[in-house]
Amino acid sequence: MKIKRRSIIAFCSGLAVSLVVGCTNQTQAPTGEAGADNATGSAANAGEINLYSARHYDTDDALYTNFTEETGIKVNLIESDADELIEKIKSEGANSPADVLITVDAGRLWRAQEEGLLQPISSEKLEAAIPANLRDPQGNWFGLSKRARVIVYNPENVKPEELTSYEALTEPEWKGRVCIRSSENIYNQSLVASKIESKGAEETENWVKGLVANFARPPEGNDTAQIKAVAAGQCDVAIVNHYYVARVKQSEEAEDQEVASNIAVLFPNQNEEGTHVNISGGGVVANAPNKENAVKFLEYLVTPEAQEIFANQANEYPVVANIKPNSEVASFGEFKESDVNVLSYGKNNPDAVKLMDRAGWK
Ligand SMILES: [Fe+2]
Repeated sequence: MKIKRRSIIAFCSGLAVSLVVGCTNQTQAPTGEAGADNATGSAANAGEINLYSARHYDTDDALYTNFTEETGIKVNLIESDADELIEKIKSEGANSPADVLITVDAGRLWRAQEEGLLQPISSEKLEAAIPANLRDPQGNWFGLSKRARVIVYNPENVKPEELTSYEALTEPEWKGRVCIRSSENIYNQSLVASKIESKGAEETENWVKGLVANFARPPEGNDTAQIKAVAAGQCDVAIVNHYYVARVKQSEEAEDQEVASNIAVLFPNQNEEGTHVNISGGGVVANAPNKENAVKFLEYLVTPEAQEIFANQANEYPVVANIKPNSEVASFGEFKESDVNVLSYGKNNPDAVKLMDRAGWK
């Protein structure tokens, strides 16, 4: 399990935001074991929530601290990879202390829902704040911030007018010029799943085959590695999440500034359905000991204050309509986003994975 030093320090020094794993036995519940041999018999605590988060952003601490200040509810944080958190909740079963699960992709929220690990929540605040295509219709999970999967290009070798859509990257002129990370990555799986939803499996498979045929290299590295490869001229275009571009552009490291000066961003599919958008989102865990606090926490995350933290500090797009992205992200320009329901990213995930495998996307 990935444990961050800053979080351990926060817990050990008794701050409101605490990463419990690292200071205690990993199998121990944050607020005391919820099992039958526990004195209270419950992990419920009027003033706490146990948050399992796959978001690894130091800036999220501001969300937890502000929530605690406003409500008096302490946030006990366990950070890990989404699949590990899902397995942890499963293995903890009915005694899981987890109240809220947050992931960085709709596909994994859907997976958690399919495993029966989430519970439906009815909240007027959440329903009013979050567009219907960015949340589960039953209320098992809710999108809290958005990320656009954009095209990054090297302006030395590519003119923006040459670029139009994800699909156009299958044209012969792009042979050997496209970089993208592995098909094992959930962002790519969700992109393909969304295309299955909007265009059907057959057309999507043809697109993926064409894209793979134009790869500059076998997939390697994360989204940042693709951006660096474009800047270095190893490929001319890459498909990446927008906030990785913002992060490189904001970096004060000379190496990153060099990368930033050699790339530009384009929102694909503007004359069609719009650019693919994914969510980071969360849901209340099925056996949440602190359900009421968990709902309050999710509701806090769609307040203007919290949405501005997502936007300003994590370079994400807010899900709430009248909140603006930060100036770095705004500099990429406005764009039309696809309104394919993010629910389909999970539903179509198994087909997307098989299709990418058949197409030879490593
Ligand atoms: Fe990411």
